[in-house]
Amino acid sequence: MCGIFAYLNYLTPKSRLEVLDLLVTGLKRLEYRGYDSTGVAIDSPDSKNIVMVKRMGKVKVLEDAIQEHFTGGEYSEPVATHIGIAHTRWATHGEPCERNSHPQRSDEGNGFVVVHNGIITNYNDVKTFLRKRGYEFESETDTEVFAKLVHHLWKTHPTYSFRELVEQAILQLEGAFAVAVKSKHFPGECVAARRSSPLLVGIKTKTRLATDHIPILYGKVLPRSDSTSEFMPLEEKEVEYFFASDASAVIEHTNRVIYLEDDDVAAVRDGTLSIHRLKKSLDDPHAREITTLKMEIQQIMKGNYDYFMQKEIFEQPDSVVNTMRGRVRFDGNAIVLGGIKDYIPEIKRCRRLMLIGCGTSYHSAVATRQLLEELTELPVMVELASDFLDRNTPIFRDDVCFFISQSGETADTLMALRYCKQRGALIMGITNTVGSSICRESHCGVHINAGPEIGVASTKAYTSQFISLVMFALVMSEDRLSLQQRRLEILQALSNLADQIRKVLKLDSKVQELAKDLYQHKSLLIMGRGYNFATCLEGALKVKELTYMHSEGIMAGELKHGPLALVDDSMPVLMIVLRDPVYVKCMNALQQVTSRKGCPIIICEEGDEETKAFSSRSLEIPRTVDCLQGILTVIPMQLLSYHIAVLRGCDVDCPRNLAKSVTVE
Ligand code: F6R
Repeated sequence: MCGIFAYLNYLTPKSRLEVLDLLVTGLKRLEYRGYDSTGVAIDSPDSKNIVMVKRMGKVKVLEDAIQEHFTGGEYSEPVATHIGIAHTRWATHGEPCERNSHPQRSDEGNGFVVVHNGIITNYNDVKTFLRKRGYEFESETDTEVFAKLVHHLWKTHPTYSFRELVEQAILQLEGAFAVAVKSKHFPGECVAARRSSPLLVGIKTKTRLATDHIPILYGKVLPRSDSTSEFMPLEEKEVEYFFASDASAVIEHTNRVIYLEDDDVAAVRDGTLSIHRLKKSLDDPHAREITTLKMEIQQIMKGNYDYFMQKEIFEQPDSVVNTMRGRVRFDGNAIVLGGIKDYIPEIKRCRRLMLIGCGTSYHSAVATRQLLEELTELPVMVELASDFLDRNTPIFRDDVCFFISQSGETADTLMALRYCKQRGALIMGITNTVGSSICRESHCGVHINAGPEIGVASTKAYTSQFISLVMFALVMSEDRLSLQQRRLEILQALSNLADQIRKVLKLDSKVQELAKDLYQHKSLLIMGRGYNFATCLEGALKVKELTYMHSEGIMAGELKHGPLALVDDSMPVLMIVLRDPVYVKCMNALQQVTSRKGCPIIICEEGDEETKAFSSRSLEIPRTVDCLQGILTVIPMQLLSYHIAVLRGCDVDCPRNLAKSVTVE
């Protein structure tokens, strides 16, 4: 939720127009995190003031406004050292409008300006405190209290450094947030901090950095004169820093980044970065490592596709292979999951497996639950993170809890993780984002390796999460003689999966034709059962979020218990009927629908004439083992929601009211 981007150039001359260009490009990469309003702050031409431009709407609107606003020649003059901050917002406090957009400021003179992601939960108390001291508020945001609190501290503690002011402010605040702060009182300096919301610092130097670590400095707030020794020079003079909510915004500039941890405060002064923590705990490392990103810039570009979502759907033949790469040996029928292999004996002794996630990630748990039960012979519980927390679900030391999350930052999932960790369970992260909070806070885990997913609607992450959980089930059953035949059948099917996905993707134009029949309807019911029930839930979620049409995933066995009342000759219905152990039951449901004059679109197996005969509209998918069918059946649903969204004129990559990374509870 919300994207933070800040850029600091030290002794690397750039004009303000170039800086603005960099800020806008950074925001475009982060736009998937929120897109209801945007803003930037840079220095005025005389460097004595801060100029802000804020707009409601997407980054493009801001870009146009910047072109109109910064026309003077003085903005083309190079400046050796400068700091610009920028933000793309997903509103939590206060409606989307310019007033509530970030940067938020401390005072009319723009003394301190702040961009913020997350929620400050005690903002009302802080607001009351500041109001009593004469501060007036101009927005409904929680962010504004941060800017004004820093200003208040600056007035009351004139000897504090910029970093110390931000640290002091953070000490007073509760909640989960990340911030980047700029000040006209501290030109050329930037301070950023995180608590439970992601933030990283990219570092670009002309030559290789002299160190791979930035030492962590601890301590109380010190008078400014005493604190200068805290700064550890990087032995590089010219340097550029990028502060961003995620790596996709910095990869085109540098692949050297530091992921900040909770309660880290990163400060740049005189071109030198230092990382501070107010409190030292026993397990704290001495330094933050500079990580080299493996991501390529092409991975975050649309290429020849119209939308990121479309690109990501069509990447699935490759992304599923990447999930299995180096892990599945098809010749020796062996699977090694490096991130969990040392924990397998402990997992085998556990009381139960709990799979926890939100939205699409939750659906990947629903999709694989049956196979996990079969191959691990353990009880498997599947939980929506928010509901799991609401119920205060009992958790025991011998539980193994999986936290499934594309972003690795989803607040509900992260809170559930911490809840289970506190109760002594073994924590396993299944994520797509290296360095994410869920990754770091798990005891062990599987990285799904689907590559960056930018479209807000999750597609390739789902199929890769699905495969990661299947691989886990295969690892757990490695030494079970009675399950070897079943394992071989699944491994064989996994080896054919990429080709079969390619075949399903060839249905694209047929799906587009179906979309033309459906896009003006108000509703779409999607029915199936067994291994394909998860596809119904996931398909309905895709349709809802992308097309704003009502859609419901219905367990076919439940039809006669209520949903059948919805069926008539005008209600669009899609049914998944494959030749698996629940085929006969699905056929019963199909007949219940057709005898109420329903005319369903059927997803069936290639060449299954008998099933096809029940409808004039069908999509045929290749045959695979029952437990992997869900990977092939979900792809037509992804394509269908995509085409309906295009036909309805919806913004495919940025559906209304949503954001990719839901870092608020
Ligand atoms: C739907 C979608 C969401 C996410 C959910 C969890 O297309 O993208 O439902 O699946 O917000 O996000 P992650 O997987 O990042 O935890």
